[in-house]
Amino acid sequence: MTFDQWTRQVLDRVESALDHYLPAADVQPAPLHDAMRYAVLGGGKRVRPLLCHAAGELTNAMPEALDAAACALEMIHVYSLVHDDMPCMDDDDMRRGKPTVHVKYDEPTALLVGDALQSQAFVTLTSDVLDATRQASLVRELALASGSVGMAGGQAIDLASVGHALTRPELETMHRLKTGALLRAAVRMGAMAGETPSAETLAALDKYAAAVGLAFQVVDDILDVTADSATLGKTAGKDAKDGKPTYVSIIGLDASRALAQQLRADAHAALEPFGARAQRLAELADLVVNRVS
Ligand code: IPE
Ligand code: IPE
Ligand code: MG
Ligand code: MG
Ligand code: MG
Repeated sequence: MTFDQWTRQVLDRVESALDHYLPAADVQPAPLHDAMRYAVLGGGKRVRPLLCHAAGELTNAMPEALDAAACALEMIHVYSLVHDDMPCMDDDDMRRGKPTVHVKYDEPTALLVGDALQSQAFVTLTSDVLDATRQASLVRELALASGSVGMAGGQAIDLASVGHALTRPELETMHRLKTGALLRAAVRMGAMAGETPSAETLAALDKYAAAVGLAFQVVDDILDVTADSATLGKTAGKDAKDGKPTYVSIIGLDASRALAQQLRADAHAALEPFGARAQRLAELADLVVNRVS
């Protein structure tokens, strides 16, 4: 199977699983469920679900178990985007090529869509496609990655840093938390959904995920400067306008591009112990770094 075929197959599975794990639009309160489905379905690159499925192949995880983990990750991710776009945070009116949730609906709805998606992620992870032991370990992994020592903590640092010139280590910490933590969880949860991974396997995957997770946000910072809004599906040029410290603002465009390529090489090196079995993870590292949106 080519990488494109593999990706298409995972994306199709994940789209159906998201439809299944989200409450139907006619379940009360219907306006909230409609807005949750608007936010999640039919958009986004689904990088976290792809990483989860690719890592799960290393430990022979059941596809249905990976779908549940992938959907939980995507729900947390979309919740973070919906809140990130609200006027009290980045104040964006476009996401995934559509009006943001607070623009299409209203601010209270956007707040509740995020809250409810966060809860639905844990409902999804505790469905019976995973046994009780795996449910508990995956819940803990996702909760840690999304909370104050993960994504939410990174977002707090991001907001507190507007207008400040962070040092490079401070910037790296912010990026590792706000974006890297959930990407790392995607890799770890995929592996943990199958046969219990050895400490060596998890350590190698952690190295891989650290590189890919940082690379992802470095590239996000680059694309904010180099891509246009139509390609990105979100407003370009926003970071400089808002005074956000980014890799581009702190080390410049060329050094940011070089760093992204270095991190891609680091990700590949971390996968060496797995040989050909890690082909999809290797291809995903390339996708993350070479993407244009
Ligand atoms: C955007 O994430 C926000 C960051 C964490 C950088 P993605 O680039 O994964 O957004 P979608 O899911 O493809 O829309
Ligand atoms: C957001 O980072 C990271 C999240 C946790 C949502 P950004 O604010 O750079 O993401 P975009 O550029 O709006 O997608
Ligand atoms: Mg932001
Ligand atoms: Mg933003
Ligand atoms: Mg950005």
